[in-house]
Amino acid sequence: MTIKEHTRHFRALPLGMRVLFSGTLIVLGTGYLFAMIYIFESHAGRDGKPGLSVDDLIIAYSGSKSDTKLESALKGPMANMLPPKEAHEIVAWVRRGAAEADYKSSGVEGIVERRCLICHNGSNPHIPDLSGYEDISKVAEADTGMDIFTLVRVSHIHLFGITFIFYIVGSIFIHAYIRPQWLKCVTLITPFIAILADIGSWYLTKVFPPFAWVVMISGALMGFAFAFMWIASMYQMWLYKMPPELIENDGRVS
Ligand code: HEC
Repeated sequence: MTIKEHTRHFRALPLGMRVLFSGTLIVLGTGYLFAMIYIFESHAGRDGKPGLSVDDLIIAYSGSKSDTKLESALKGPMANMLPPKEAHEIVAWVRRGAAEADYKSSGVEGIVERRCLICHNGSNPHIPDLSGYEDISKVAEADTGMDIFTLVRVSHIHLFGITFIFYIVGSIFIHAYIRPQWLKCVTLITPFIAILADIGSWYLTKVFPPFAWVVMISGALMGFAFAFMWIASMYQMWLYKMPPELIENDGRVS
C-alpha cells in the first residue's frame, strides 16, 4: 500500500483559515494591479506610440538607436511632467547638438529648472541629477538603455519579491481541486520559470533585442498564473460544492 501526501480541500478547512487566505489574496491582488499600472506607466510610449509594446521594452533595456535617453524619457515616463510644447523645445535642443551655449540661450535651462528639478535635484540617487549642463548632457548622449547596476538592483528585488508572492499564492491554491493534476503543477511552477526567463532576458535584450519578446511573454505568463490561481482559489473557497469523489475521500486533494 502506498501512502500519498494529501492536502485538504478549501471546503474542508476551518472558516478562519479561509478568511485568512481570502484577506491575503485580496491584498496581493490589489498589489498586483498596482504593479501592472507601474510597469505600464514607466515603459509605455517610449517608442513614440501609445501603449506598451516590445519596442518600448527594447528601448528601456537596450536603448534606442534613434533617440537619446532624454528623448525616450520625454516621450515615455516623463511625458506628463511638462506641456508638449516645452518637450518639443528640449528635443529640438538635443537634435541641434545639445550644446552648452544653446542650452542657456534657447531657454531649455529654464524649462528644466521649472519642470524637472523638483525631483531631479540630485537628492535621489536612483534618478539622474539634471541640475547642471554637465548632468543633463549625460542623458542627452546616445541611449544605451538601463545600466547594469540598475538591472542588478532591480533583479534581486524582483527575485526575492516575486518568489514570496508566488510561494504564498501557490500554497493557498494547493488546497484547490484541479483536474488534470498536471495542470495544477504547471500553474504552480510557471511563475518561477517565468521570473527567471524574464530577468535573464533583461540582460540578454542588451545584446540581442528580440529577447524583449521573452520579457513580454514571461510577464504575461506570470499574470495568467496569478489570475488563474486567484480566481480558482476564491471560487472554490466560497462557492464550490465538492464533487462526490472528493467528499468520499474526506476532502483530500492531491
Ligand atoms: C515628480 C518627479 C519627477 C519630475 C518632475 C521629473 N522626473 Fe524624470 N524621473 C523621475 C523618476 C522617479 C524617474 C525614475 C523612474 C522612471 O524611470 O520612471 C525619472 C527618470 C528620468 C529619466 C531617466 C529615464 C530612464 O530611462 O532612465 C530622465 C532622462 C528624466 N527622468 C528626465 C526628466 C525631465 C527632462 C524632466 C522635466 C521635464 C523630469 N524628468 C521631471 C521623476 C521625475
